[in-house]
Amino acid sequence: MAETIKPHGGALVNRVVTGAQRDGLLKEAEDLQHIPVNAWTVSDLDLIGIGAFSPLTGFLEEKDYRSVLDRMRLADGTVWSIPIVLPVEDALAERLLVGERVALVGEEDGVVYAVLDVRSVYRVDQREEAVKVFKTDDLEHPGVQKLFSRPKTYVGGPIQLLNRPKPDKFQEFYFDPAETRKKFVQNGWKTVVGFQTRNPVHRAHEYIQKTALEIVDGLFLNPLVGETKSDDINADVRMRSYLVLLDHYYPKARTMLGVFPAAMRYAGPREAIFHAMVRKNYGCTHFIVGRDHAGVGDYYGTYEAQDIFKNFTADELGITPLFFEHSFFCTKCGNMGTSKTCPHDKSHHMHLSGTKVRAMLREGICPPAEFTRPEVAKVLIEGMSDQLVPSSNP
Ligand code: ADX
Repeated sequence: MAETIKPHGGALVNRVVTGAQRDGLLKEAEDLQHIPVNAWTVSDLDLIGIGAFSPLTGFLEEKDYRSVLDRMRLADGTVWSIPIVLPVEDALAERLLVGERVALVGEEDGVVYAVLDVRSVYRVDQREEAVKVFKTDDLEHPGVQKLFSRPKTYVGGPIQLLNRPKPDKFQEFYFDPAETRKKFVQNGWKTVVGFQTRNPVHRAHEYIQKTALEIVDGLFLNPLVGETKSDDINADVRMRSYLVLLDHYYPKARTMLGVFPAAMRYAGPREAIFHAMVRKNYGCTHFIVGRDHAGVGDYYGTYEAQDIFKNFTADELGITPLFFEHSFFCTKCGNMGTSKTCPHDKSHHMHLSGTKVRAMLREGICPPAEFTRPEVAKVLIEGMSDQLVPSSNP
């Protein structure tokens, strides 16, 4: 097989255990201490297992956690910006011994998702983590809120994945990094740009994707479909909107849709680095970072998620970030642009906030075609009027 971009850390991690080894571990798990895990942790487990979080082989041990917080690197120096951790209730954590193996069991479904070899049990200062990762300890911030709602003791160590979460819908768009890498090669794509989104694709997104596509071979549209905050448009509706958009406006031979089943952290700049490293693992050579990437409210500056890349060398990153300025439709130019390409003043630029667009869609009003493709607006309006649609996974 032709050579693709190297995974982060050099090799694609695979912690998925199958066959007799899996049977043996499942049997062993019956006698191990059980640690209940929620949907968020199950998603982290799965992404570690399939190598999307390479080079992680499990949840961070204390030395790596400290290093990630303090210098955005694992203890061995590899770039890593978001703590991937396993918080465990104190009463349970107190009973755990370093060196023992535990079973990680879905708190809702009782499924034994994995076993973990305990290497480290440590108390953390959540306020410190919040300030370092999210740059705030404001409880209004959804990532901070989530962090503070979790236990303060973390358990670290390598995992072995025994069962994988099953998507209820859109299974055909779930690809492991080994599969996307293979597909990119089969498509003959030497360069591939990854696009992260937690929103429907509006014209500004389309503009930056297609501008990137002018200089690379393929576009990997990789929407995040794990847990998001409740007022983000749910993944099911978004998936339908991506499909209709791709069908009408994108070249099929140069575009691939595949989901990123991770939880959204809303950590802005640090999450941009994390998103880029993960997309490298999926085989992307380039990654789009636009305005306020992975941001929420006014916690981050418009281009902070771009500036953070300056902390690392091109070699350390491996993947090439493609930075885009705030894009808009200019009524005078009659097309999309940014302050780099459009000479007109703001009064000619169409601007609609996400909140405003969601309000319009909820009332059944199509945003202007210069903002959202009508086919996409139609799907969103239909989807948003259906209150029964779940709010996270498709
Ligand atoms: S994110 O939380 O997943 O980053 P969103 O889905 O809105 O949110 O953005 C996806 C990507 O498009 C991010 O890289 C973001 O910076 C970029 N982006 C979103 N809107 C614009 C815009 N108007 N101009 C330039 N880039 C944008």
